Amino acid sequence: MTSRLASSAEHSSVCASINGLDPKRMPEHIAVIMDGNGRWAKARGLPRMMGHRAGVEALKNTLRLCSDLRIGALTAYAFSTENWSRPIDEVNFLMTLFQSVLQKELESLEREQVKIKFLGDLDALPTSLQDLIAEAEQRTVLNGGIHFNVCTNYGGRRELVLAAQRLAELSAKGILDPSHIDEGSFAAELLTAGEADPDLLIRTSGERRISNFLLWQLAYAEIYVTDVLWPDFDAEALKIALVDFQSRCRRFGGLTPISADQLMP
Ligand code: FPP
Repeated sequence: MTSRLASSAEHSSVCASINGLDPKRMPEHIAVIMDGNGRWAKARGLPRMMGHRAGVEALKNTLRLCSDLRIGALTAYAFSTENWSRPIDEVNFLMTLFQSVLQKELESLEREQVKIKFLGDLDALPTSLQDLIAEAEQRTVLNGGIHFNVCTNYGGRRELVLAAQRLAELSAKGILDPSHIDEGSFAAELLTAGEADPDLLIRTSGERRISNFLLWQLAYAEIYVTDVLWPDFDAEALKIALVDFQSRCRRFGGLTPISADQLMP
């Protein structure tokens, strides 16, 4: 992650250089399901782990591009609650990979003003990784650049159940009147509290599923699926996704196209 934050003039020129993009209609928040690492490796006769390594490079590149395009947040699905069922060697490899990449990149994330957060049940991760995550979050919490959310041991249903439990506890203690629970108070209990919902969900490798990812937050996201395998997801692939996003007519259930911020009470 060697980029720096783009100035306003630089931002317009980055958008202009990505031919056909309108800088005024960029998504505020992109979520990405990084799928196809294994198939990418298999197609090259390589072990699956090499696909994950190449996936890290694609993620770094995507973060850099999103930051240069002044996209407010990038949320990536790195490890789901279901991924524990993979062979133990692959799970261990992924945990070690997360740790080594974070260790190696933390300084540049800090320097480049990226605010990193890990979303999920982090208690189940190796202790050394938990410690590094805590350090990374603390060192970048005041950064003013792109929010980089890494969903790790994350499950959308689990997140919703935990939010419901917390609201029930508050109600049982008499702190919260159940009839006052609304979308705002529910969203405030989610791991993404304070973050705008994603406007665009990108899923690579042609799969057309949400796979338990951000079930609440993706309510009005535009969904873009590409056959590109995640390690091959590059600037051109991101541009195609963004051009497609800008061609959508977002009505949020109404009749007239509106922007997401007009939905806020
Ligand atoms: C899905 O492809 C990919 C994953 C489960 C892992 C994604 C993780 C990374 C790209 C590393 C991220 C690193 C950091 C530090 C956040 P798959 O293995 O399911 O591919 P397949 O469907 O082709 O088998």
